[in-house]
Amino acid sequence: MDCIEALKTRRSVKKFTDKQVNDDDLKMILEAACNAPSGMGLQSPKILVIQRKDIIERFSKWNLSYYPDEIKEKLPDDFDPFYNAPTLLIVLADKNIPTCIEDASLTIGNILNAASSLDIGSCWIHRAREEFDSIQAKELLKVWGLSDDYIGVGHVVLGYPADDYEFGKKKIKEDYVVYVDELL
Ligand SMILES: Cc1cc2nc3c(=O)[nH]c(=O)nc-3n(C[C@H](O)[C@H](O)[C@H](O)COP(=O)(O)O)c2cc1C
Repeated sequence: MDCIEALKTRRSVKKFTDKQVNDDDLKMILEAACNAPSGMGLQSPKILVIQRKDIIERFSKWNLSYYPDEIKEKLPDDFDPFYNAPTLLIVLADKNIPTCIEDASLTIGNILNAASSLDIGSCWIHRAREEFDSIQAKELLKVWGLSDDYIGVGHVVLGYPADDYEFGKKKIKEDYVVYVDELL
């Protein structure tokens, strides 16, 4: 898909089929992610790729535990914050790098837009910060051979949109862009 078209038509997907993301497409998405610009070119983020169902389920429960109570109360009992997506990416940032959050956010942006260009559904899912601030996560980072200096920035769920998924319609705010042509 043409780049501008992919950027303009990308929409979050919150209902997926069970079909796993094609390996070659996942590779292309990850390649696009790793090519995101980063402060001083340090490529500071880490991308965790999780396709094991039991591991995704564990993260899902964990993620749900950080939902505010007033929202949790209104959710169905079987609500999955990751919408039963078959692939979960988690983007981490190295807290020692001053641009770490910006770097990781751009990485996530590339993932979302690359997925869109390949007709793969995606959605940024929040609360990675809370998860990776925990002692439990620091232990996990050790298991994965990563320093405990990594903090969570965001999850991205990936998969194929369910047939009956209704893509959100988006109206861009009229005052989103401000042209500046004056000074004091
Ligand atoms: C920083 C950030 C956090 C988000 N967290 C969640 C989330 O936890 N759960 C969710 O369903 N969607 C989440 N979203 C997706 C937004 O709901 C979605 O991007 C927004 O409604 C605009 O829709 P669009 O992506 O289709 O343009 C998040 C998006 C961003 C950028």
